[in-house]
Amino acid sequence: MSLPLQGQIIFVTGASRGIGRACAIAFSQLGGHCILSGRTQSGLIETDDLIRAQGGQATLLPLDLGQHDQIDNVGPSIAQRFGRLDMWIHAAFHPTPLMPLVQLPDAAWEKNIAVNLTGCWHLIRTLSPLLNQAPQGHAIFLQNMASTEAFWGPIAAIQAALQNLIECWKKEISHLSPLQIHSFKPVPTATRLRSQFFPAEKKEALALPETIAQQIVSLIIPS
Ligand SMILES: NC(=O)c1ccc[n+]([C@@H]2O[C@H](COP(=O)([O-])OP(=O)(O)OC[C@H]3O[C@@H](n4cnc5c(N)ncnc54)[C@H](OP(=O)(O)O)[C@@H]3O)[C@@H](O)[C@H]2O)c1
Repeated sequence: MSLPLQGQIIFVTGASRGIGRACAIAFSQLGGHCILSGRTQSGLIETDDLIRAQGGQATLLPLDLGQHDQIDNVGPSIAQRFGRLDMWIHAAFHPTPLMPLVQLPDAAWEKNIAVNLTGCWHLIRTLSPLLNQAPQGHAIFLQNMASTEAFWGPIAAIQAALQNLIECWKKEISHLSPLQIHSFKPVPTATRLRSQFFPAEKKEALALPETIAQQIVSLIIPS
């Protein structure tokens, strides 16, 4: 019996752990071939091993979203190797430490913008030619855990900027392509990111990354 995503190519950022990894595994179980992206090779290999253990296949693409010239090669490389791209799941996120805005060092602000905002724009630019050609393409952006409370300024700024970027991209492509662009906000989930921001929180009270991945699957394949 053929699986619903058989033959589809799916690019996953943040695939080295957490929600990105869980999505890569869940979409591979549905027959998709995931391109696993992130900086940590050992994490990407572990995700690949988990996918292979379930009979799936994946391709590793180590990538630092702060290296914008590397990102620009991603679309052409996928085109050359696979000739198509059906889905992009954007789960990568660089956590900026929580601190008063007046104490935030230049380097922390600049990295936040470079990885979380400029990196995402470069990905949109390099991936959209392929995604626009997909007969049933999807781009899924995970919203961050932004809050407009004290000390969350850089993260809240990224969330607002990304939401607007995504809305504009949606309108730009609406007459050109069947690509569907989704923005999804996970409930608090037990990942390294969550424990960095909320170290004292009880993990048992949090959702599992696998649960979030199934909710994201449901966006694409309603049950
Ligand atoms: N966990 C939650 O409760 C929660 C709630 C709401 C929203 N979210 C959102 O869900 C998404 C996934 O978060 P998560 O909780 O799964 O976090 P996570 O487990 O810490 O994963 C973050 C991912 O981002 C990648 N990343 C970080 N810096 C990068 C860089 N410079 N270049 C490329 N990749 C980079 C990491 O890979 P490498 O370090 O290997 O590069 C890792 O795979 C994030 O957007 C987060 O804001 C999470």
